[in-house]
Amino acid sequence: MSLSKKSRPYFNHSVEFKKNFTKEERGEALSKAGLNVFFFPSEMITGCDLLSDSGTTTMTNEQWAAMHLGDESYGSNRGYFLLLEQIKETFGGEFLSFIFHQGRPAEDALFTLIGRLGKELVIPSNGHFDTTEANIEANNIRALNLFSPELKNENSHSCFKGDMDVKKLNDLLEKSKDKIPLIYLTITNNTGGGQPVSLKNIKEVSDIAHERNIPFFLDACRFAENAWFIKKYEEGQEDKEIKEIVKEIFSCADGFTISFKKDGLVNMGGGVFIKQDGLFVKKYPQMPDALMNYQITKEGHPTYGGLSGRDIMALSFGLRTVLKEEYLDYRINQVQEFGGAMKEGGLPIVTPVGGHAVYLDINKFFEGSKMKPGDFGGVALTALLLSEYGHRACELGYFAFGSYNKETGEEIFPEVNYVRFAVPRLRYEKQDLDSVAGAVVELYKNRDKIPGVNVVYGKDLPLRHFKAKFEFKFLL
Ligand SMILES: Cc1ncc(COP(=O)(O)O)c(C=O)c1O
Repeated sequence: MSLSKKSRPYFNHSVEFKKNFTKEERGEALSKAGLNVFFFPSEMITGCDLLSDSGTTTMTNEQWAAMHLGDESYGSNRGYFLLLEQIKETFGGEFLSFIFHQGRPAEDALFTLIGRLGKELVIPSNGHFDTTEANIEANNIRALNLFSPELKNENSHSCFKGDMDVKKLNDLLEKSKDKIPLIYLTITNNTGGGQPVSLKNIKEVSDIAHERNIPFFLDACRFAENAWFIKKYEEGQEDKEIKEIVKEIFSCADGFTISFKKDGLVNMGGGVFIKQDGLFVKKYPQMPDALMNYQITKEGHPTYGGLSGRDIMALSFGLRTVLKEEYLDYRINQVQEFGGAMKEGGLPIVTPVGGHAVYLDINKFFEGSKMKPGDFGGVALTALLLSEYGHRACELGYFAFGSYNKETGEEIFPEVNYVRFAVPRLRYEKQDLDSVAGAVVELYKNRDKIPGVNVVYGKDLPLRHFKAKFEFKFLL
């Protein structure tokens, strides 16, 4: 047996004991929740809760201490100034800051205002996140995904499968340059299997945008994790500090939207940030004031933007921690090792493993079994993993991204069919994640016995995976 010689770069400051629940009790609670894991009481999770890495971070003692210094004044609280300084320190450059309570209201504000700029607009991306896409399309703008061809190429060893397809971008610009209010890159590419984007691609897309007088924006939720991949795997970047790489990334952008619930290392927070001397402000000079008006009507005064003073303090300190190389090394290696354990157990996961989650390919998982696409095997798997083993994961596949055509009575299936195991930051240890891998391997060995599910409520609703109810086709 080989023992690791490296300990974690932190120790536990405070812990919470789990409560004991039996398989039967979990099964009963899950039946009440209509097998929808979102409605399962988190207190009853006896294993790992890998439903999301968003807002699930364990904060540091510095962050908890900073919360006590939170200033709840209506205007210009103490933390606001600390945050502005930290934004400058982390991202470099002079950004106009518009804080929101999380990522999606920030997207709502930006795309509502952009939607007023014209008709038949298109926003291309390397992979829009689902709320981003929904906020873009709610404003009659087309959200276009230009995934890298490497993403679907199983034989590709590319470490940057999250890149944008630059050829497709150039083709689009040839035809519709005047219809594109901005070009967007998501780092890392959550919809594209959590894969990172190379600095080369970031620079190339930014140059293409600027040559055509189009602003370039980032969806920057996992900016630090993306910078770690650039340092580790991109030629010529290994000697740079992560801090430097982050500044280089943001020097290419005219603005960014962000959910701080990921690499802000906090449980709540987000925003839109616009470079003061960038192309976005030059091209649309009315935008900063329009954004501020939107923020005041929807969230509150710009100096708190929908967050409490203590949240803002926690965020200022979270942004300091996230760029520590020892933190990022440990964090991403933990996710990689988790993926490694799954792979060793013979599970068909998406490779290479990205920065925040391991994705299980459900079509391959059930290959050769009787499970049919309309049985929603991914939903059945997440339900059994929770009731039998106490671990929670998320179906992101035929049910979450699919839809039901009421006229034909048929299901329309998307290209990808995954179950995602998202790893919260600073929360679990190796033993915890090994136990998830062990449970999924056991389910894989018994996949012939896993029943499909019937959708008993909500198959025709938008965003149906958050709301639907299911039942097993037969009982085990
Ligand atoms: C890439 C990406 N963009 C935007 C969001 C939306 O952020 P929030 O959940 O804070 O609204 C998320 C959330 O998971 C995300 O992963």
